[in-house]
Amino acid sequence: MRARKAVIPAAGLGTRFLPATKAQPKEMLPLVDKPAIQYVVEEAVRAGLDDILMVTGRGKRALEDHFDHAIELERQLAATGKESLLAAVQAVTNLALMHYVRQGKPLGLGHAIGCARHHVGDEPFAVLLGDDLLGEDEKLLSQMVDVCEESERTVIAVMEFGDDALSKYGVVAAEPDPDMEGVYQVTDLVEKPGKANAPSNLCIIGRYVLTPDIFDHIASTKPGRGGEIQLTDAMRAQAREKPIRAIKFDGTRYDVGLKSDYLRATVQLAVQRDDLGPGFVAFLREFMAGIDDELAG
Ligand code: UTP
Repeated sequence: MRARKAVIPAAGLGTRFLPATKAQPKEMLPLVDKPAIQYVVEEAVRAGLDDILMVTGRGKRALEDHFDHAIELERQLAATGKESLLAAVQAVTNLALMHYVRQGKPLGLGHAIGCARHHVGDEPFAVLLGDDLLGEDEKLLSQMVDVCEESERTVIAVMEFGDDALSKYGVVAAEPDPDMEGVYQVTDLVEKPGKANAPSNLCIIGRYVLTPDIFDHIASTKPGRGGEIQLTDAMRAQAREKPIRAIKFDGTRYDVGLKSDYLRATVQLAVQRDDLGPGFVAFLREFMAGIDDELAG
């Protein structure tokens, strides 16, 4: 069976971006003129997943409003002849079939995914974390959906990072799959092990295609690191029953939960835009020349 639904957990507190996230969801922080969450929903839709469940919580109403009609605004834009803005506003509403469920307390990523059980039912589904933005040309998610359909196994995405990352990500032990080019068989997973205990440098990034037996594993997962119910722990139990697969990703990815990557993503996306790019590049050149002069002088 092929995954058709996507789950986007967005109930976290976004503490790394305080105070910006005191009164607005982290997922609504803009990159150029779109909130981060819109890039993620667009990626899911490009991979054929247009039934989307967002897991939200307290203070996350703006997420629902963003994907809903804004009748007064639309009327105003139509009346004043702002056709392209009207089209941009309406396109967001028509992107996907959006559903919402609330995670009463932020008890961890695993718990947030568990809240999707009723909506997902007994079929494979994708999970996209809003912190991870991939380049718009990347085909990672569609590849993962293909591998899940073919192997009937959970598929995760990993990237090879330096030792510093091993205390920030889930890390896997994996071997190349003899039957599938570019695919790994995962033998173990550990959440944020640190360099001393890491089985490799293959770190789990925020794209998953999960088989539905994950829900039973989440239900029996006890709080782990940080007192949270960890998805990595549930997948570890799942992997013991039937090995899971990983695809190694080498493409463009920004961890926009990190301020430094958020800034990089903003600059790169602005440079790529036809309307903003040329002027912005000219500004950057001048700005960098000024910095070079300062350093030289
Ligand atoms: P993070 O821990 O990276 O996000 O969780 P956070 O909690 O929002 O941010 P910081 O660390 O405090 O800055 C990864 C993803 O899991 C979701 C988050 O919304 C984020 O997309 N999540 C996390 C939940 O939905 N529920 C939780 O209980 C925890």
